[in-house]
Amino acid sequence: MKSHEIRSRFIEFFKNRPGAEHAVLPSASLVTSDEKGITNSTLFNTAGMQPLVPFLLGETHPEGTRLASVQKCVRTVDIDDIGDNTHATFFEMLGNWSLGDYWKKESIEWSYEFLTNKEHGLGLDPRRLYVTVFEGDENAPRDEVAYDIWKDIFAREGVVGERIYFMGAKSNWWSAGDNGPCGPDTEMFYDLVGNIEEMSEGMSKDAYIEADAEQRVVEVWNNVFMEYLKRDGAIVGKLPQRNVDTGAGLERLTMTMQGKRSIFETDLFTDLMKLAAELTSDEKSQRIIADHMRTATFMIADGVVPSNTDRGYILRRLLRRAIFHTTAKHLSSEHVSELVESIARTYHDSYPELTAKQGIIKQVIDDEAAKFKKTLADGLKQFEKISTGGGISSKDAFVLFSTYGFPIEMTVELARVHNIAIDRAGFDAEFAEHQTLSRAGSEQKFKGGLADSNDPKVLQYHTATHLLHQALHDVLGDHVEQKGSNITPERLRFDFAHPTKMTDEEKKRVEDIVNEKIAAALPMQHVTLSKAEAEKTGARHLFNEKYGDEVSIYFIGNTLDAAYSKEFCGGPHVKNTSELGRFKIQKEEAVSAGVRRIKAILE
Ligand code: SER
Repeated sequence: MKSHEIRSRFIEFFKNRPGAEHAVLPSASLVTSDEKGITNSTLFNTAGMQPLVPFLLGETHPEGTRLASVQKCVRTVDIDDIGDNTHATFFEMLGNWSLGDYWKKESIEWSYEFLTNKEHGLGLDPRRLYVTVFEGDENAPRDEVAYDIWKDIFAREGVVGERIYFMGAKSNWWSAGDNGPCGPDTEMFYDLVGNIEEMSEGMSKDAYIEADAEQRVVEVWNNVFMEYLKRDGAIVGKLPQRNVDTGAGLERLTMTMQGKRSIFETDLFTDLMKLAAELTSDEKSQRIIADHMRTATFMIADGVVPSNTDRGYILRRLLRRAIFHTTAKHLSSEHVSELVESIARTYHDSYPELTAKQGIIKQVIDDEAAKFKKTLADGLKQFEKISTGGGISSKDAFVLFSTYGFPIEMTVELARVHNIAIDRAGFDAEFAEHQTLSRAGSEQKFKGGLADSNDPKVLQYHTATHLLHQALHDVLGDHVEQKGSNITPERLRFDFAHPTKMTDEEKKRVEDIVNEKIAAALPMQHVTLSKAEAEKTGARHLFNEKYGDEVSIYFIGNTLDAAYSKEFCGGPHVKNTSELGRFKIQKEEAVSAGVRRIKAILE
């Protein structure tokens, strides 16, 4: 079965549950928007439940109490495992949720049905299925309920043998970080080789578990019974409602369904692995290249650009590490194009935006490859020099990172090849400090917003900024995400994501559009909506910005639906675009890699 069919069977299964239809949600962006600051601020969504945290905590979801989605996720904690059979930095998580709706019985029954039913599920062999349940600890009791449900299912289906294992919190308690909803889980595993009870070699169960279990048994599904709340790492009590959070990794299910022992042999990777094989003969390196290029492509499509901090740094590490694993230690533009096109093709049915944004994605990767090429030779020389000293201190590693653009994994890899020690923990500490400083710096840089909101000139520039923002989207594309804004009575300044210098023609088109909207004398109006309703309007808003339950939207046009521009915004603004005068771009320049700045005036 093709990966695409697995996605659609999953969605259909939950959408069509008789009497328990699930609302289907589109995948949220990879980039997290922890608007309420409830969970730890992970940089990317690491699980399907993450965008749903406020609703798991009790907020009413506009789509109802039963939800299903296929969510794009990134987990970089597994970065060192990439190259084995089952880990990937990017993956899709099939998930279904009960927000205080159904509970353990339905959730387990449906997981089992979807996994094993031939007509509308995956038709996996129940005799190759194993499950774990929570054994209990000081926070929550042993999950006898889940155990009994599983026992009944296996008995009813005539599946013999030891199937259900009690496990501790280390493996069977799920939470996304130290703060937020959490709970015990029951996990499902599939034996990739066959049904052990029937295997004729007569290998005893114990011998089998010792010999090959880790290689052959793969986790395919997880049901979390989310009824507890964690604060600062400690369980502090129960949530107002009992939720179910179930997640299944598409890559692993696909591997299972396609009878493969590795995710890199599935249809999700076929074309990409062929291209990777042209770049290096080493199999592990091929997997690293394929994995990292796929993750990078999805990140860039969601607006991330390479940099030395936060999300941008993760993207930079992935790209540079992938390039470092090629034999040539460089990616030509042709190779970049082929890789991106192959990923866009593979994912076209589910994520057409990759195809639409191909140009930008290629350009961002190409630019990064060129930058890396420029510093790599010097960096390697520096590495040689340092390593003659017999070890790499945290300072050395940091200089390689900050001056020569060496991601830490690369320095670690070089150290391993040269058989020298490296102070990785020291580097991590140094890096954390650098992150804190640069974050403080950028907050400073972007602070300000409106200089003095009583000044009529400032109101004009504020409204002009909204027009400019929309016009940039019209002319350059939807990757143009706002990165900063600063307004004084003399001018506006607007920072946005875009990889290249704008051409004169692009600047002219932006100016023309803004002036056209000024000439059209459009009213600036605002409405206050609940956050969920506000999001539905498609109004632009900043990732990572904290918005309250009630959001005010400013829109330029006669109605909200037909508005030219819509943004989450607290105002204030002029009443009509006719008050603005003539808009002129004075300067367009780079602020940092992938971020451009426009300064403009109203004449
Ligand atoms: N949140 C759980 C996980 O990531 C189940 O969706 O495994």
